[in-house]
Amino acid sequence: MSFFIIRIQYLSYAIFIFLFTSCIKKEINTIKPSIIPVPVVQNIQDGVFELDNSITFNSEEVFKPAADFLKSYIENGSLIKLNTEASNTKSILFIVDESIENIEGYKLTVTSKKIIISAKNLKGAFWGVQTLRQLFPPCFENNSCGDFIVGIQAIKIEDEPKFKYRGMHLDVVRHMFSVNFIKKYIDMLSLLKMNTFHWHLTDDQGWRIEIKKYPKLGTHAAFRKETLVGHGSEKPFRYDGKPYGGIYTQNEIKDIVAYATSRGITVIPEIELPGHSQAAISAYPELGCTGQDVEVATRWGVFEDIYCTKEGTFKFIEDVLDEVIELFPSKYIHIGGDEAPKTRWKECAYCQSVIIKKGLHDEHELQNYFISRIEKYLNNKGRQIIGWDEILEGGIAPNATVMSWRGDKSTISAAKQKHDVIVTTREYNYFNRYQSKSKTEPLAIGGYLPLEMVYNINPIPKELNENEMKYVIGAQGNVWTEYIKTSEDVEYMVFPRAIALSEVLWSKDEQKSYSDFLSRLTSFKKRMDVIGVNYSKHIDRLDKSDFKK
Ligand code: ACM
Ligand code: ZN
Repeated sequence: MSFFIIRIQYLSYAIFIFLFTSCIKKEINTIKPSIIPVPVVQNIQDGVFELDNSITFNSEEVFKPAADFLKSYIENGSLIKLNTEASNTKSILFIVDESIENIEGYKLTVTSKKIIISAKNLKGAFWGVQTLRQLFPPCFENNSCGDFIVGIQAIKIEDEPKFKYRGMHLDVVRHMFSVNFIKKYIDMLSLLKMNTFHWHLTDDQGWRIEIKKYPKLGTHAAFRKETLVGHGSEKPFRYDGKPYGGIYTQNEIKDIVAYATSRGITVIPEIELPGHSQAAISAYPELGCTGQDVEVATRWGVFEDIYCTKEGTFKFIEDVLDEVIELFPSKYIHIGGDEAPKTRWKECAYCQSVIIKKGLHDEHELQNYFISRIEKYLNNKGRQIIGWDEILEGGIAPNATVMSWRGDKSTISAAKQKHDVIVTTREYNYFNRYQSKSKTEPLAIGGYLPLEMVYNINPIPKELNENEMKYVIGAQGNVWTEYIKTSEDVEYMVFPRAIALSEVLWSKDEQKSYSDFLSRLTSFKKRMDVIGVNYSKHIDRLDKSDFKK
C-alpha cells in the first residue's frame, strides 16, 4: 500500500514538472533597432517576428542573389531551416516594387507574421537584407545565440541612398592582404551598404594582378627586395633586408569578384598609369623612357621612371587592360593618373617627338594624350575610366570620371566641366591618417582625422550650384598601406571611420546626428566583436579647432 502511494506521489511530481516547463516560454532575444547608416524613414511597430522552423521563404527570381545571402545568413546563424513550400504561419518574402524611385531603394516591413523586403532592383534588395541583418542579434553572426528564440522587432522602413557611389579603397601594393581578408573587408562594406570596392593593384612597390601575357609581372614586378623601416621622413633611410611581395592569381581575382557580386558590391580595379609604374618597368625596362634597369621600389613616395609614350608601351597597357576587363565586369576601370613626374618625358627624344607630332604644348598635354588614348581604348570596349584629379591637368579625357583627392578645387573644377566626380579628399577621406592624438597610436603617415570629422564630411563644395552638384556622385575612404602591414592594422584604421562615412553617403542630413550615431555605434561594435573586427577603441571627441571645413 505505502509503495503504491509513493509511486502516485512521484507520478504527480513528474506531471507537475512537465506542465511547469512546458508553460514557461523560452526567452526571446530581440534587439533594439540601431541601424547604421540610419534609414530615411523607420517606424517601430508593436510585435515581434519569431524565428523558428515554421517560416516560408520566397523570393522573386531577380532578387535571388540577395535572397540566397539572407537564407544562408539565417541558416548559418542558427539551427533554423527555412521552407520554400507555402505555409500558413509565417513568411519572409522578396517582392518587386516598381513604385520605388531610387534604383538602390528598398522597403522593409516586419510584422509578427511577415518580413517583406521590396525593391525595384537587386541592389535595393541587398540593402534591405543588410538592414534586416542589423535587426538580428549579433550572436547570429557566428551562430552563438544558443537556446534563445530570436525575435525581430516589428518595424516599417523606407530607405534610399543619398549618393550613388559609396566606396572604400584598399592599397594591396605597399602591403598585401589575404584573399580571405579581402572577402571580410567586402563583407563589412556590404553590411554598411557601401556599393564599391576600389582595389589598388599596381604601383611602384609591386604589381599584384596576374597577367598571363606578361609573366614577369608575377615573377619579378610582384616582389621588392626589402622594405623601408620607420617613417618615410626619417633620414637616413633604413631597410628590413627582407624580400616582400606576391600576386593575386586570376582565379583568386575571379573568386573575389564573384564574392563581392553576391554581396551587392562592385569591384573597380586600379591599374596605375603613366606614373606609379616602376614595378612594371622593373620587369620590362623597355616600357620606360631610358630602357635602363630599375628596381621595384623599396620605399614610399613618387618616382621618376614612368611609362614612355612609345607604341610598345601602349601595346603592353592595352594587353594588360584586355585581361583586366575579362576579370572585372565593372563599368569603371581606374587608370590612376596621379603623381607622374615629367622628368623622363622631358629628357626623352621619343616623348618630345610625340609632343611635336601631335601639336601638344607641353608634358601635361602629353599626359592628357596618354590618358585620352587609354580612355578611348576602354570606351571602345564598353568601359569608362576613373582617374585621380591630375587628369584635369593639360585637358581632361572626354568621358572621364575624376577622383578628387587634392581638395575642393579639383571637385569644383571637374563638376564645372560637367565631369562626374568622386570625392576622396586627403584631409577627410584618407583613413591612413591618425584617428586619435594618443601616443599609443600605431605609426601612420601623419595628419589627424578623428571619427567626428569623418561624420561631418560634406562631399559637395558650397561653391557648386544646383546643376553642378549633380556631378558629385559620391565619395570614398582611401586606405594607403605604407604603414599598415597586417589585416588587423587595416581594420584598426578603417573602423569605425568607414562606418561614419557610410552614414555620410547614405543618410539624409535630417536623419543624421553624431550623438545618435555614437549610441548606434555601441550596438554595431557588439556585432563587430562577434564578427572579429579589430576596430579602433580610441573614439576621441573632436577638438573643434582641428576641424577646418
Ligand atoms: C594619391 O593619394 N596619390 C591619389
Ligand atoms: Zn619617353
